[in-house]
Amino acid sequence: MPYTVPKLTNFSAAALDSAVRELLSALEQESAMVASENDWKIYRDRWMARKNGVLTQLNDLWLKAAPGPSKKEVGQRVNELKGKVEHTVEATLARIQSGASSGKLAAERLDITLPGIRRPLGAEHPVIKTMNEIVSVFRNLGYSVEEGPEIETDYYNFEALNFPPNHPARDTQDTLFIVGQESKVLRDRLLLRTHTSPVQIRTMEKMKPPVRVVCPGKVHRNDAPDATHSPIFHQVEGLAVDTDITFCDLKGTLDHAMKALFGSSVKTRFYPSFFPFTEPSADVQISCIFCGGKGTRDGGPCRNCKASGWIELLGCGMVDPNVYGFVDYDPAKVSGFAFGMGVERIAILKYGVDDIQLFFNGDVRFLEQFG
Ligand code: PHE
Repeated sequence: MPYTVPKLTNFSAAALDSAVRELLSALEQESAMVASENDWKIYRDRWMARKNGVLTQLNDLWLKAAPGPSKKEVGQRVNELKGKVEHTVEATLARIQSGASSGKLAAERLDITLPGIRRPLGAEHPVIKTMNEIVSVFRNLGYSVEEGPEIETDYYNFEALNFPPNHPARDTQDTLFIVGQESKVLRDRLLLRTHTSPVQIRTMEKMKPPVRVVCPGKVHRNDAPDATHSPIFHQVEGLAVDTDITFCDLKGTLDHAMKALFGSSVKTRFYPSFFPFTEPSADVQISCIFCGGKGTRDGGPCRNCKASGWIELLGCGMVDPNVYGFVDYDPAKVSGFAFGMGVERIAILKYGVDDIQLFFNGDVRFLEQFG
């Protein structure tokens, strides 16, 4: 029930006290309900409007109605109330203007029927997701994980991997070198690693055989970005060195890994190739996952494998005995294999992505599809 000014008939001090208390309590309660400037104007007018505001009614219903002997006392009380009403109305305005809460807890003003705020969870980046998947395939085979620095020396990136001094990969055309290295001997000069193979050397320096490691990481090449090239990309390196490791072990391991990554119907083919640090070397091809290895799709040549039915995926080979010489392994006693695969390349095939730049542009519309 909203407060209405009572018509006083009893003007005793006790009756006046109680009427004043009631009025002040209504004043406070209504003030607490004021939440906006509009509310406040209504509040102010209700209490202070010349015409029919509560104060005006006090004049009529209390003061004018008071019998002679009570007039003075009622007049004083009405005056006091006037001051209090004015003060409270002002204070109410100050409160809503400063944005403070109206004495109600903020939680009480929360409208729980409003729809909630959607806070989307981040998605793992497709490159990292693919890299983790590759690593986990090899972890399940008993491999452990090793990492190495992205800023490498010429020694680890090239020399210890049996690259001859004037190999084209050592040219600034292909490799990003750190500036100001000229005063150092060649092997100590710093560069951005062009592959994860230097981690092979770092691992063999600190571990004796048997070694079974995978080395995921970022690599850099002096390539202009386009749909199939990026100056930064990722590789996963693998290295297994033990007694009596043969090319058959290499084939079996990579065939298993490709089936684990692309499905059990995928076939692999080992094609002769060359790397300075493996001998013999091979490129691994998988049967085209788009045309099932047929070379034709939708009545025409398959564009993904250029109608060959095969897609080239990674490099590998048996560790070149010269490499063992750099890490103090005895090539007469141990043998091993190594492989290196491009993570983006595998992600592109797995997810049917047609432009490598999508991985690096940070467009959430692309990235959220991998959530
Ligand atoms: N490091 C080679 C590359 O980046 C790949 C590779 C790794 C080849 C290991 C053989 C053995 O192309």
